[in-house]
Amino acid sequence: MKIAMASDHAGFDQKPALVAYLAGLGHEVVDMGPASAERCDYPDYADKVARYVAAGGAERGILICGTGIGMAITADKVSGIRAAVIQTPQFAHLFREHNDGNVLCISGRFTSLATNKEIVDEFLATEFGGGRHEGRVAKAMREDDPGFQGVGEDPIPVR
Ligand code: RB5
Repeated sequence: MKIAMASDHAGFDQKPALVAYLAGLGHEVVDMGPASAERCDYPDYADKVARYVAAGGAERGILICGTGIGMAITADKVSGIRAAVIQTPQFAHLFREHNDGNVLCISGRFTSLATNKEIVDEFLATEFGGGRHEGRVAKAMREDDPGFQGVGEDPIPVR
């Protein structure tokens, strides 16, 4: 599978090991930077990978920052991207099976390399479940459409 990867300075330590791990499994990895551990801004790297994946340059993206949170916030704003912060292999499995996630965001500071390898394994091996999840993912993606007006408000009265 073709995978685009990037980090910021906080995720930089784990990036070479994960790139090598994935290449060793036979994947084609595109390392979109950074090239050094110098302090940098995560939105620049999330943008590179998310747009590359959305344009079809790679099937999946993997982003590593301190928590994964800033990467996910940024990547998810790119049309066509379904990004989330994932901290366990089980969530990685469900992210693929239920949400058809295409950009995995992981923490270089709070999740060990060993756990991140397991998370990446699940992310790459798990197929989207389709079925009842199909329509829900399609509904989530309506938010990408500037013409979508929202489903409307209908609050339940609080007693
Ligand atoms: C950098 O200090 C840190 O804010 C960043 O790596 C990330 O955790 C943001 O969400």
